[in-house]
Amino acid sequence: MPTEIIQSQVPEYIRKLVPYSPGKPIEETQREFKLKRVIKLASNENPLGPSPKAIAAITRSIKETYRYPDASGYWLKKALATHLDVEARSLVLGNGSDEVGDLLVRAYCVLGDFIVTSQAAFSAYRIRAQVQGVKTLESPLTSDLRFDLDAMLKLVRENERVRMVFIPNPNNPTGTYVTEKELGRFLESLSKIRGGAVLAVLDYAYWEYVSASDLPDPLPFFRKYPNVVIMRTFSKVYGLAGLRVGYGIATPELVGNLDKIRTPFNMNIPALVGAVAALSDRAFVKKSVASNRRGMKFWEESLEAMDVPYWPSQGNFLLIDAKRGFGKPGSAVYQACLERGVIFRPVDAYGLGHALRISVGTDQENREAVRVLRDLFVKSIEGR
Ligand SMILES: Cc1ncc(COP(=O)(O)O)c(C=O)c1O
Repeated sequence: MPTEIIQSQVPEYIRKLVPYSPGKPIEETQREFKLKRVIKLASNENPLGPSPKAIAAITRSIKETYRYPDASGYWLKKALATHLDVEARSLVLGNGSDEVGDLLVRAYCVLGDFIVTSQAAFSAYRIRAQVQGVKTLESPLTSDLRFDLDAMLKLVRENERVRMVFIPNPNNPTGTYVTEKELGRFLESLSKIRGGAVLAVLDYAYWEYVSASDLPDPLPFFRKYPNVVIMRTFSKVYGLAGLRVGYGIATPELVGNLDKIRTPFNMNIPALVGAVAALSDRAFVKKSVASNRRGMKFWEESLEAMDVPYWPSQGNFLLIDAKRGFGKPGSAVYQACLERGVIFRPVDAYGLGHALRISVGTDQENREAVRVLRDLFVKSIEGR
């Protein structure tokens, strides 16, 4: 049986891989439930769309797409270097920050190594690791869904083959964060383990949305510790999730290795020019952040009025306790809303079956989605 023989040659860690499960697409939902209007609050995208400046630059760039893109990403790195006040040599570009994580694991780990993260941390790290035959060790969450950095340090100390630690700040899907004091202590301790060889990868996908004054800027840590790597993305506040642009900030030496192993043209022409334009559109970022604050406040007040508990979030999404609010698991509330044209995100795969994640939408989307939830809430009271 040649197909069975071929299949048996695929490494077990690939055969057993549970791939990333993306938010349900709008069109698919429209088809499935014969709905005209569907609201997607499932993938933490910017509901305002891309910046107008990015749209103009991307449109202009289309006629250049018969040529290969600039493999060095010169202009985007130059713009980012100025924006962040880091050397261009410290920047690596990725097809989304997902690819930066993938490059890090490929460059820094070998089969049988480990990465460390927390339970309910963004799932991409575990998947990127498993693809390379690298296992993930997870520290337990605290009862208020926060990371336990001391437990992470313990995992690093006890396992010689831990090569890197992934810390999303804030985390998706919990929306919780590690404070300046906690991160400072953690990085100081980590720098002393195995001569500072273990990388601390700080994923700041939602940095622009952050309002908590004790959620730290990661750049001073990067300047202090050579084992700190920062990941950022254009998929969130910059509204370019569909273009796939992310980047990493690391020492020029590490960046050199990441650059060696990436495919030469991992960034396409519209992505490169769209990101430069989006970065320059400060007014759009400001408007997007303000819209998110307004939307978040509206969600918090609406949930409080319905007596549905939620976890305060530093991102453009928040996690609700469906079990306590509706007396049903998150997946049941998800399904009921889906049938009524609102797509949320179930988080069972994170071990949070009692919860459901809601991305903040436009004012109109938020109002409509709250109406659907309120309808469900009334039904759940009537059913008790
Ligand atoms: C914590 C976190 N990091 C990274 C990403 C993905 O970023 P990208 O689209 O740049 O691959 C997400 C997307 O949801 C995220 O929540």
